[in-house]
Amino acid sequence: MKIYVTQPIPSAGLEVLRRAYPNFQINPEERVLSRAELLAKIKGGDAILSLLTDKIDAEVLDTAGPQLKVVANMAVGYDNIDLAAATSRGVMATNTPGVLTDATADHAWALLFAAARRIPESEKFLRAGKFKSWGPLLFLGGDVTGRTLGIIGAGRIGHAVAMKSRGFNMRVLYADELPNAKLEQEIGARKVRVEELLREADFVSVHVPLLPSTKHLINALSLRLMKKTAYLINTSRGPVVDEAALAEALKNGVIAGAALDVFENEPLVHPELLKLDNVVLTPHTASATIETRSKMATMAAENLIAGLAGQRPPNLVNGEVWGKHQTKS
Ligand code: GLV
Repeated sequence: MKIYVTQPIPSAGLEVLRRAYPNFQINPEERVLSRAELLAKIKGGDAILSLLTDKIDAEVLDTAGPQLKVVANMAVGYDNIDLAAATSRGVMATNTPGVLTDATADHAWALLFAAARRIPESEKFLRAGKFKSWGPLLFLGGDVTGRTLGIIGAGRIGHAVAMKSRGFNMRVLYADELPNAKLEQEIGARKVRVEELLREADFVSVHVPLLPSTKHLINALSLRLMKKTAYLINTSRGPVVDEAALAEALKNGVIAGAALDVFENEPLVHPELLKLDNVVLTPHTASATIETRSKMATMAAENLIAGLAGQRPPNLVNGEVWGKHQTKS
């Protein structure tokens, strides 16, 4: 069996893998493999433990070869995998849902507060030696307690972000294709259309997967619907927000601020955003806690092992491949 891990992952996951397949192969460097390197490394592979930075498309799947059975992504999102291509080749794709829900929701809150209370901006000011005295007008931000939180996408992570608003006594609106009855019962959240949410919310937090239908869901038009005093938080996927439109809106006072953990062309960030003080930027680290990343790595390894052992991986995302796979193995 050839198993390839595309970058070092937390040791808990590597240990699980090592117990089952002591000879697995790994890129030892903490960097994304170039396309040519990835293609060379996965050739002849039975399983790949991939990251969201690895584009797993038809070419990669074909280069690996017909024996490839599993692509185990160490991420909850799997827009880096061409699922249709995997399915048509009988390759199982898996993700790591659940274990990163709270860490990601916590980060969304960290970003919300950082933007509302202007934390990075004021810290920079202080470190630059500019804090000369307390000032009645110094770094005024926006209130959080008692305001309205708008959740776009009330799945696992959106739900968790909404639940954490209880300590801040917030009114919660959510927009989703499906109703979330639990959220409504638990905290009286109200399902509304996206347009109403954008008009009403003081904080808009985005939690949708990246799909053709969610690309640029937040664009110049939607930003114009938001309050001038409102903040946008994105911990989902970069292309859900039109970055050029957001930079314009932040520059022109269309909204008060934003906080982003994800970007349209990672690792690049729109140059106009980098110039602005009213946007907080983190390098796609919403799930980056020691505990969470260890759980994600373990889960990805377990998915991979199950798939290779001919068992249905616990977190198979293309379930329709299961029957096909059984005839293949
Ligand atoms: C991170 O962005 C993930 O999808 O796990």
